[in-house]
Amino acid sequence: MTMLVVFESMFGNTEAVARAIGDGLGEDAVVAATDDATPAMVASATLIVAGCPVHNWGLPSQKSHATAERLGDTDSIPPASSDTMPMRDWLAAVPAGAGRVAAFDTRYASRFAGSASKEILKELVATGREPADEPQAFHVHQSPQGAERGSMLKDGELERARHWGLALAASEAAK
Ligand SMILES: Cc1cc2nc3c(=O)[nH]c(=O)nc-3n(C[C@H](O)[C@H](O)[C@H](O)COP(=O)(O)O)c2cc1C
Repeated sequence: MTMLVVFESMFGNTEAVARAIGDGLGEDAVVAATDDATPAMVASATLIVAGCPVHNWGLPSQKSHATAERLGDTDSIPPASSDTMPMRDWLAAVPAGAGRVAAFDTRYASRFAGSASKEILKELVATGREPADEPQAFHVHQSPQGAERGSMLKDGELERARHWGLALAASEAAK
């Protein structure tokens, strides 16, 4: 059994959530950026968990990546990753297959924040896989909390992510 956690992350927060989910899933889990999660890894995964930040109320794009890169690397915002494959491009290359899927995003704690996880789950389910849970959101602060990568997450979100990973692993084991 292989469990694959795939993330797109510009400022390190979605990556930190992905790694916490991977911790919860346990030692069978592989955590990889969109650039590194190859179709072969996807094909052998029995559970795929994919996540990205919400940009402009939905999935990030090359254009929103460029905006993030312009915003980053100031005194108060961490440098943004450049040349990271947007989740929407990675999703377009996921081969049809069996197994289960789950999705998450990072976003502001506002009802106007939009969502990326719903779209991720929809795309993954369209490849023939079963949803393992509802789409999840993990919350970041709206104002910069410093120039460290991953420093925007609200208190308790990494612990919540780890618990979600534990719950997904338990439901995988109970299949
Ligand atoms: C171009 C851009 C657009 C954004 N649009 C939204 C948005 O519509 N809703 C929201 O909740 N957050 C929005 N955000 C905040 C991101 O969700 C936040 O930067 C992200 O969760 C941080 O994750 P990362 O560190 O993995 O990049 C936006 C950020 C950027 C850079």
